[in-house]
Amino acid sequence: MPSQDLLFSGIERFHGEAPWGRVLDAGTGAHSLSWLCTLESESLTLVTGAAPRARRLEGGLRAQDRALAGNWQDPTLLFEERFDVVLADYLLGAIEGFAPYFQGQLFKRLLPHVAGVLYLVGKEPLPDQAPTEGGQAILEIERLRDACILLAQHRCYREYPQAWVERSLEQSGFEVQAAWQQGIVYGPSYIERQLKVCSNKLRFFKDAALAETMAKHIEELRSRALVLAEIEGGIALGSDYIVVARPKG
Ligand SMILES: C[S@@+](CC[C@H](N)C(=O)[O-])C[C@H]1O[C@@H](n2cnc3c(N)ncnc32)[C@H](O)[C@@H]1O
Repeated sequence: MPSQDLLFSGIERFHGEAPWGRVLDAGTGAHSLSWLCTLESESLTLVTGAAPRARRLEGGLRAQDRALAGNWQDPTLLFEERFDVVLADYLLGAIEGFAPYFQGQLFKRLLPHVAGVLYLVGKEPLPDQAPTEGGQAILEIERLRDACILLAQHRCYREYPQAWVERSLEQSGFEVQAAWQQGIVYGPSYIERQLKVCSNKLRFFKDAALAETMAKHIEELRSRALVLAEIEGGIALGSDYIVVARPKG
């Protein structure tokens, strides 16, 4: 089972027999939505910072569900609406792309919308060194992705450690009820996805010669990383975490 599906099944196990009720996916995407659609919820509200994504996701929804394009920086977004379950699945890491420097205020912003429980999924920032050759290739891929994003003059995502998340939740009026980590195993689809981000950014480079050299480097890294993923049977490196929190009091 892919690591992200294991994260969702972990949340399901933790949630147990409790009803899901009104669910808010505060940073939505095809993956969290496909999981949420398997749950017996009263309604799904999906929020994304990207209007085209909201339009794409709207297609398969039930009558009681909705997909909204908005920004958590906007104080009127979902004003006075409360949800039994709020999911923040890789939302924190993506904030830098949509609302730079807002990470420290995110949980205070979400608090009034949480009637029941917040499930936060995040990724530990990767270490500087990896113990295997495959792990080193994953670090190279992540650095190359960020370099290409910057050279395209776009903004990189930024992951935060679990300890930072727990501290920020407590300071924002939440009580952390549980938390666990899960090791990540990177496979070919991750390698392809990240290197596709790199290739997609090349057309924004100011220097065409640099873009051409970078394209060759991306290809070289792709072949090397795919072979290592095969040899290592998936590349184990770092971990994701889930933090379960409820409003205090
Ligand atoms: C990495 S994606 C989340 C992945 C998604 N849960 C999935 O399964 O595919 C981050 C999501 O958070 C949204 N997002 C990031 N910053 C936001 C902000 N400030 N306001 C609203 N949505 C935001 C992005 O638009 C995107 O929908």
